[in-house]
Amino acid sequence: MATNRTFTMIKPDAVANGHIGAILNDIIASGFRIVAMKYTKLSPEKAGEFYAVHKERGFYGDLVSFMSSGPIVAAILEKTNAVEDFRALIGATNPADAAEGTIRQKYAKSIDANAVHGSDSDENAEIEGNFYFTAFDKF
Ligand code: TYD
Repeated sequence: MATNRTFTMIKPDAVANGHIGAILNDIIASGFRIVAMKYTKLSPEKAGEFYAVHKERGFYGDLVSFMSSGPIVAAILEKTNAVEDFRALIGATNPADAAEGTIRQKYAKSIDANAVHGSDSDENAEIEGNFYFTAFDKF
C-alpha cells in the first residue's frame, strides 16, 4: 500500500471543548505523520467555499455558520492508506453511529458538531490541503 496524504480539521466544537491535544495524540499514535499544520479561523465566505460541494443540502447554512464560529486546526497527514485509515480513525459522520474508540465517538456530541473532518478521497485530500497550505508549508 502506497504512502499517501489526507487532510483534516479539528472543528470549532472540539477546539472549544479542549480536545486539540487529545485528538492530535490519537492521530499521531495511529501512525500519521504531520506534513503541515495551522491554527486558524474560517470566515463564513471561506467556510462556504470549502463546503461548496454541499451547497444544495439542507444543512449547508448551519454547517457554514458552525465552521466559521471559532478557531480550528487544519492539517495534512501522511501514512500508508491515509484517506481510508483516517476515516476509520474518526468514525461515522453521526457520533451516535461511530464505533467505540473512534475520535467522533470520544469527542463529538452531534452530527453537525462532529469534532473532525477527514477527506473522502485522495483527490479531495489534495484539493483540501491546497485550500490551506502552499508548497512552502509542507514538510
Ligand atoms: P459529509 O461529507 O456527509 O460527512 P463527513 O464529514 O463524515 O465526510 O458531511 C460534511 C459535514 O456536514 C459533516 O461532517 C457534518 C455536516 N452534516 C450535517 O450537519 N448534517 C448532516 O445531516 C450531514 C450528512 C452532514
